[in-house]
Amino acid sequence: MTPPSAASARTGPPPLVASRPGGDTAEGTAPGVATDPAWTRRRRLRPPRPATLARSVAALAAGAALYLAFPPVGAWPLAPVAVAALTLLVRGRRLPSAYRVAFLFGLGFFLPLLRFVAFVGDDALYALAVGEAAILALAGPATVLALRLRPGYSWAALACVWVGQEALRGRAPFGGFPWGRLAFSQPDSPYTPLAAVAGAPAMTFAVAATGALLALALHTLATTGRAALATRLGVPDVTAHPGPASGPTGPAGPVAVPAQRSGDGDTRTGRRGRARALVLGAALPAVGIAALAAVGLAVPLPTAAQDGTLRVAAIQGDVPEPGGLDALGEKFQVTRNHVDETLRLAADVDAGRTPRPGLVVWPENSSDVDPFADPRAAALLDEAARAVGTPILLGAVLDGPGAGHVRNAGLVWTADGWAGQLYVKHRPVPFAEYLPGREFLQKVITRFATEMPNDFVHGTGPAVLPAAGTTIGDVICFEVAYDSNVRDSVDQGARLIVVQTNNASFGRKGESQQQLAMTRIRAVEHGRATIQVSTSGQSAIITPDGTVLSQTGLYEPGILSAELPLRTGRTLADRVGAIPEAVASALAAAAIMAGIATGRRRPVGAGAPLSGARHSGPGATPRDTPAPRTGLRPDGRGPERSGVDAHRVVVCMPTYNERENLTRTASRLREANPAVDLLVIDDNSPDGTGQIADELAREDNQIHVLHRAGKSGLGSAYVAGFSWALRHGYDVIVEMDADGSHQPEELPRLLARLGTADLVIGSRWVRDGQVRNWPRSRLVLSRGANLYVRAALGIPLRDATAGYRAYRADVLRARDLDAIQSQGYCFQVDLAWTAWRDGFRVAEVPITFVERERGASKMSRSIIIEAFWRTALWALVSGRRGPAPRPLPATPVSVPAPSTEPALVTATATAGPPTQPTGPTIATTGPATSLGAAGTATVDPPAPAHQRTSDEP
Ligand code: GDD
Ligand code: MN
Repeated sequence: MTPPSAASARTGPPPLVASRPGGDTAEGTAPGVATDPAWTRRRRLRPPRPATLARSVAALAAGAALYLAFPPVGAWPLAPVAVAALTLLVRGRRLPSAYRVAFLFGLGFFLPLLRFVAFVGDDALYALAVGEAAILALAGPATVLALRLRPGYSWAALACVWVGQEALRGRAPFGGFPWGRLAFSQPDSPYTPLAAVAGAPAMTFAVAATGALLALALHTLATTGRAALATRLGVPDVTAHPGPASGPTGPAGPVAVPAQRSGDGDTRTGRRGRARALVLGAALPAVGIAALAAVGLAVPLPTAAQDGTLRVAAIQGDVPEPGGLDALGEKFQVTRNHVDETLRLAADVDAGRTPRPGLVVWPENSSDVDPFADPRAAALLDEAARAVGTPILLGAVLDGPGAGHVRNAGLVWTADGWAGQLYVKHRPVPFAEYLPGREFLQKVITRFATEMPNDFVHGTGPAVLPAAGTTIGDVICFEVAYDSNVRDSVDQGARLIVVQTNNASFGRKGESQQQLAMTRIRAVEHGRATIQVSTSGQSAIITPDGTVLSQTGLYEPGILSAELPLRTGRTLADRVGAIPEAVASALAAAAIMAGIATGRRRPVGAGAPLSGARHSGPGATPRDTPAPRTGLRPDGRGPERSGVDAHRVVVCMPTYNERENLTRTASRLREANPAVDLLVIDDNSPDGTGQIADELAREDNQIHVLHRAGKSGLGSAYVAGFSWALRHGYDVIVEMDADGSHQPEELPRLLARLGTADLVIGSRWVRDGQVRNWPRSRLVLSRGANLYVRAALGIPLRDATAGYRAYRADVLRARDLDAIQSQGYCFQVDLAWTAWRDGFRVAEVPITFVERERGASKMSRSIIIEAFWRTALWALVSGRRGPAPRPLPATPVSVPAPSTEPALVTATATAGPPTQPTGPTIATTGPATSLGAAGTATVDPPAPAHQRTSDEP
């Protein structure tokens, strides 16, 4: 129970430091960093906090790691690692923050990956990288939402998110730019064969799933590791509730909850619990990753010829300049280079040094002059075709149709000239080959008019060319990145795929190697021998299983020749086409929607939340102590324990700047209800209330303290307290203000009423209920609020906003506490209303509310506004439906009677678990007959005024 730093602004907005156990912090906050009051007041003036900076740097680094996974470096295992890193970086963050982090990740990735674009101009590189990063960054918030699903689904949802993100990026804007898909980093990995199952999306799915599982496993390892260490050192285990994987815990960091007894039995069960957590959280993901790889490796990749073979020679003629806009040099120079290499091949064939090919392939733009327009170009092609004696598939830019238009085409040339077949590139590159919105853009950026006077038209003809007695699928340059372009050629009967490309302008910046990786993956995807042929390299001949038979270097001439199998079979990927991608994208959308709808934070692995706190509303900070809703409790004991020691009652008392009130209220409570425990939930009160609470806890081991790092609202304070209370097996949980407004002496009456109710509200507005010393404005507000609530929600309660109440634990267990969004006092309405709607029995008993004499109320305009709109929203979405029928609990709860006997306790206040009540307990079950109806809200007859509670059962 380390007292948190008290350095915090007394006034002004809530302190920004907020942490959850394990030390994760709210956006932009550093754990343990004392907040300078001058800074706290104006958030905008603050420089980036260390945690924000660290996270930003980490995001950039993770993006860079993803870059390294791709060729030319090609460290493919880094791809899932990068995904895991991004997952851990965004988990539990607010959606805008997750977007920012993912955007930085995208920049770290795309800036180096796409640096080859810089030959057009740095502005082009930045525009493209920023644009692509902006789309990829959608994966950030989507990840946060996907992680709200159960861990069993969330990893798959996350993988679908990546597929969906890439699907989007590959289609929009301007037809998309699918460069840098996770799949394309894996031409040589166990996941490569998955291309034959469902194409690149399957590979991306596998990579992202691996990343997600990795994140899960890392997270579990970190949390269980910390817990184990704590046990070994015999220190209170502040991570007893498993927190997030990263982040140190500073003085203002973790919630110091009373640690478990360090007896042998508990240690052993704790160890067993951790072992289970390890198996669930770390071993299972490992098995999942192994399974993915095994599936990949198990996919058969046949390479045998099904329609004979064809010897193909690929000519890389090279270009005059290694990179840049002028790489193609003077007119005819590139054509000349390719003719020369072809003549060299012909000489080798004639001399018997190499077999005669059935087909010669030249790259994109290999004829740099339109052979239909210029007879000199045609003559050069004739010469080459005649010399080698086989048809040549070459690339040329053709004029027309019409003025201002050109075509990027592949055509077959024989000794007799053009063979009559043409493939016009289906997908010219926007801004490089054609100008979208030319009219407008030309005016804005004049350089377009001079540098790009013509638009390449989109070809609409077949994607295949008949040549050398077979059918060739022609793919030009960037088209290889688009699933549909290559698939079309196979669908149209391609037995062999040729990727014609001109990488001359890109220099030695990895573009060509990245493209080769895609080409290899296409070979596997479609089970076709594939040739990449480039003006300047790299050219390569690839077998149908993705193996590179031979390849050339960059910026050098070269001839590749191989006898290749012609295949007709269709892979599973060919048959299913775009369906897997569509399904995965739809699932991603569904996961996102589910994440939004449930708004829930789910534990991962053995109850450890991978996804972090969710928080909403302006100035809200994350809630702490997320309650594990499944798995083991922090003390390692199973949930069965809660039945053993019934009738344990705890009062949850939120405090913020209550130093003048807490001691008095606590002692009144303990005196009037000795069997009842007290949990103070302090939000790092600047006035030192937290320290006072710690002192009280030191003196009295039935008092416990939950320290939170900053003011986060009454609602979230109660959520933290309730979670703690449920984890510690309390049967009855009470809400009470610390300022003396709620009379602890009236608690027995509330508890007694709980015998036949599930929630008892201490009401000011039933008969005999009273309010003392409230200004008229507060009276009006309270009555008005209750009128509004009643009207909006149809709930039959007089005082749904009251903050003095007792719940049976079941009521709170029925609620996903982590999903509660109410921050302020509308929390009271929220819980009363949902309990009533769930069919629980809600009763009101009159209380005397006495306005505080010391300190100030925390009621504020924003709290009122929140209550107003949330209630309206609930009314809207619920359609004001009444309560659901609910079976009544078989056994009524018995509650402890007041007693003055000292509590018998064995453990110490700081190191022991909450103690058992030791005073005599009296079952106060009333006649169930009159109160059996589900969902009743009952007003009790008035109690004798100012009854001495110790006389009351
Ligand atoms: N930890 C924590 N964090 N405690 C808080 C916070 C917070 O953000 N805000 C308020 N509290 C604590 C106060 O320290 C006090 O113990 C208790 O919650 C009630 O706060 P007050 O500020 O005294 O509330 P109030 O008297 O104006 O309002 C009372 O009546 C309302 C209905 O009219 C409370 O009982 C409300 O819960 C109730 O809705
Ligand atoms: Mn008050």
